[in-house]
Amino acid sequence: MSKIKIMNEILSNKIAAGEVVERSSSVVKELVENSIDANSDEIKVELIDSGVKEIKITDNGSGMEKEDALLAFSRHATSKLYNDDDLYHISSLGFRGEALPSIASVSETILKTSTGDVGTIITYKGGKLISTDNSDARRGTVITVKDLFYNTPARLKYLKSLNTELSLIVELINKLALSYPNIKFSLYNNEKKLFNSDGSNNLLKVVNEIYGLDVTKKMLHIIGENDDYDIEGFISYPEITRSTRNSIVTIVNGRIVKNIELNKIINDSYHTYKEESRYPIVVLKITVDPSIIDVNIHPAKQDIKFSKMEELKDLINNLITKKLSEVTFIRNVETKEKIIASNYEKPIFNLERTIDEHIVDSEQAVFDFEIKENTESYNEVEITKEKLPELYPIGVMRGTYIICQNENGLYLIDQHAAKERINYELYVKLLGNPNNNITDMLFPINIELPYNEYLIVNENKNILENLNFQIADFGINTITIKAHPTWLPSGYEEDAIRRIIDIIIMMNDKFNLEKFNERVAINLSCKLSIKANENISITEMENLIDDLKKCNNPFSCPHGRPTIIHFSNYELEKLFKRVL
Ligand SMILES: Nc1ncnc2c1ncn2[C@@H]1O[C@H](COP(=O)(O)OP(=O)(O)OP(=O)(O)O)[C@@H](O)[C@H]1O
Ligand SMILES: [Mg+2]
Repeated sequence: MSKIKIMNEILSNKIAAGEVVERSSSVVKELVENSIDANSDEIKVELIDSGVKEIKITDNGSGMEKEDALLAFSRHATSKLYNDDDLYHISSLGFRGEALPSIASVSETILKTSTGDVGTIITYKGGKLISTDNSDARRGTVITVKDLFYNTPARLKYLKSLNTELSLIVELINKLALSYPNIKFSLYNNEKKLFNSDGSNNLLKVVNEIYGLDVTKKMLHIIGENDDYDIEGFISYPEITRSTRNSIVTIVNGRIVKNIELNKIINDSYHTYKEESRYPIVVLKITVDPSIIDVNIHPAKQDIKFSKMEELKDLINNLITKKLSEVTFIRNVETKEKIIASNYEKPIFNLERTIDEHIVDSEQAVFDFEIKENTESYNEVEITKEKLPELYPIGVMRGTYIICQNENGLYLIDQHAAKERINYELYVKLLGNPNNNITDMLFPINIELPYNEYLIVNENKNILENLNFQIADFGINTITIKAHPTWLPSGYEEDAIRRIIDIIIMMNDKFNLEKFNERVAINLSCKLSIKANENISITEMENLIDDLKKCNNPFSCPHGRPTIIHFSNYELEKLFKRVL
């Protein structure tokens, strides 16, 4: 007797549900995406107990006729994809026809829908059709999912605390609102309003709803295109960073995409503007011909494949680096009665703010006004030709901070950080265009290495030779340097060579000239600038400020720490209570 049998549909839906709906936030995602695909411009999400007890989604989209509504619960029933060819031109968020049957197999699901004529109400429980009836005719769909995972106990147990589940849903709705600023979203849990957007198609307003005005004021608008991709969005000032990548949001043809390479190139574009361990706030909308991407590579449709990835990465990198290079980023010291900054590191509810701190209405009016101003000017006012203002040094505090003044107030320059920046840019330049000036060494330097590392360096000898190091082999495991380029910091030659060799070994087969030059430059500039507690003369201060002014980015050291901060006249007067 044969052992193989085709499983029944209820069981197979339950198995598919394991992939499609992992937790309450994935149910919310599937249902809201259906509402978006149905062209809704208002979507309300109401939860009871973070959605574990109940999820109710109300939309004003196309709705369904009775026949379609019944079909929608069958596996592979979809109105979004009819043939092979469609799979390569998908412009809707859904396309597999799996979400509704999966959700209905692990909950009690009630679908009420109407195209504007007679309405239909259908109830499913544990994958079985319980009832069908006529209902009211309001155009749109209301779908209610109760007792999620009641029949899959392992999955129920896997859910974390109600707070964690809720934070995931808030994050999801935040990101959907960023993707569709033209849709009015609202989110409630146990009748408490947690988020809403106004559907006015103003992306910056949504940013403000999520992150608050302090962040919104420090967002920069970027826009650009190449042959295949159109990009528009907002990027934060380098001083506005978060401890996770969560606030880097990339949206491709309306789909929120979690792509490691995109996140990386966005983060790398801030290189030396911010600290390595911090991440910027970014919302990028990418528009592309659907045939250039493959949306069918991830079980929960969260990642996609790009056929012209390098072109996309170049475009993103150029747009961000260009924008950052145009703007002045001197950090202003601002005194505040209420310390807002400390909220940022709390466990998230919103992508950002905690629920209780929602803006009260009177403040909202002021915010709306300021946001409008910001949107209209797109922050371009910041752009200046001279990056640093005229600064007049007064003295040095504890051999560390140069104190300067001008008509706008008081400035402190971190002497060491500033030197690091100056040296870093100098080395990047020297390494990028190596000249032929070399210094012969009286006593060659022998560098002994473990054999595996020796092999790597030997293999990559040309990197050193291109930089004008003269190398001779010296016995086994030893590399001998006979001459070096003149720009090597004198007194630290051996140390510098070892550092350069370490970088070659570390990069090994992932060698990339630009990255290599940058790492060497950071390493050498750090080494050269280490003298702390050094009291320098006013002339030396003036020279340092002049050199800093010539830098592409005079505002942060290569590790992303600030080089200069500003106390405005007004702030000083506030501190001394001369003004209120
Ligand atoms: N809110 C809604 N408004 C109108 N039609 C809907 C709504 N939700 C679902 N539908 C219809 O039901 C069909 C099935 O939905 P389901 O989510 O199961 O599949 P899908 O969206 O086509 O694909 P995927 O499984 O990738 O989400 C959809 O193709 C759509 O025609
Ligand atoms: Mg769907």
